[in-house]
Amino acid sequence: MGRLSERITLVTGAGSGIGRAIAERFGAEGAFVQVTDISEAAARDVAARIRSAGGAADGCTLDVRDSARCAEVAAAVHAAHGRLDVLVNNAGVGHVGTALTTELEDLDRLHAVNVRGLLAVTKAFLPHMVERRSGNIVNLASIGGVVGVRERLAYCATKFAVVGITKSMALDHALQGIRVNCICPGRVETPFVTARLAEYPDPEAAYREMSATQALGRMGRPEEIAEAALYLASDASAFVTGTTFMIDGGWSAGK
Ligand SMILES: NC(=O)c1ccc[n+]([C@@H]2O[C@H](COP(=O)([O-])OP(=O)(O)OC[C@H]3O[C@@H](n4cnc5c(N)ncnc54)[C@H](O)[C@@H]3O)[C@@H](O)[C@H]2O)c1
Repeated sequence: MGRLSERITLVTGAGSGIGRAIAERFGAEGAFVQVTDISEAAARDVAARIRSAGGAADGCTLDVRDSARCAEVAAAVHAAHGRLDVLVNNAGVGHVGTALTTELEDLDRLHAVNVRGLLAVTKAFLPHMVERRSGNIVNLASIGGVVGVRERLAYCATKFAVVGITKSMALDHALQGIRVNCICPGRVETPFVTARLAEYPDPEAAYREMSATQALGRMGRPEEIAEAALYLASDASAFVTGTTFMIDGGWSAGK
C-alpha cells in the first residue's frame, strides 16, 4: 500500500522537471496520475514511464491558458474516475528582467500561465471538490513568491500572486474539506533553470552563483520537491492548510 493508494491525482506541466518528478512519485505511491502538459508527447511519455514502473497513469495535453480545455479535461477525469482527490498546479514559466527590461507583454505572458492558468485549472475542478466536501490542492509557487529575487520582476509578481491565491483559497474552503497549500522551491536543476541560465552572458558563472544562493551551496533536485508534494497530498499533512512550504536549501533563512 502506497501513501496515495486509491487517490485520483492530476499534475499540470508534468512533462518535465518538477512536475514529472511529482507525477512519477505519486504513481509509485499508488495513485492514479492524470499526467498533463502543453506537450501531449511529453505527457504521454511520462504516463507510459509510470505504467511501465507498475503504476496507473494516463497522459493528455492541457494548456492551462485554455479554460475550455481545462473544463474538458475535468469532465473526462470526473467521467472516468468520479472525482479528483489531488490537483497539483505545477505548470509555470519564467523570465529574466528588471522593471526596466521587462516588457508589459512579458508580464502578461507569465501571468497567463502562472496565475490565470492556475486559477483556470482550479476552477474546473473546485466545484466538484466542494460538492464532495473533499479535495487537496498543491500549488507550485517559488522562493520568488516569498522574497524578492533580483532580475525576476515578472516572475516574482506572479509567484507572490500564487501565494496569495493559496492562502485565500485555504481560508475560503477549509470548512468544505479542502486543503490548499503551496511549495516554494529555491533553485532546482530542471530545464526551467537551464533556460534561464542560457539568458546570461556567462552561463557557467551564473550556474555557480545560482548554486551559492542556497545556504546548502547547491541547487535542489526535482525528487526533493516531489517529496514535499507527496507530504502535502497525503493524509500525513491532514492539519496543514494555507502554508508556504519552503524547500529552498536555506535561501529564505537569510544571508
Ligand atoms: N526549477 C526551479 O528552480 C523552480 C524554482 C521555484 C519554482 N519553480 C516552479 O516549479 C514549477 C515547475 O518548474 P520546472 O523547473 O519543473 O519547469 P520545467 O520548465 O522543467 O517544466 C515546466 C513544464 O510546464 C509545461 N508548460 C509550460 N507552459 C505550459 C502551459 N501553458 N500549460 C501547461 N503546461 C505548460 C512545460 O511544457 C514543461 O513540461 C513551475 O511553476 C516553476 O515556476 C521552479
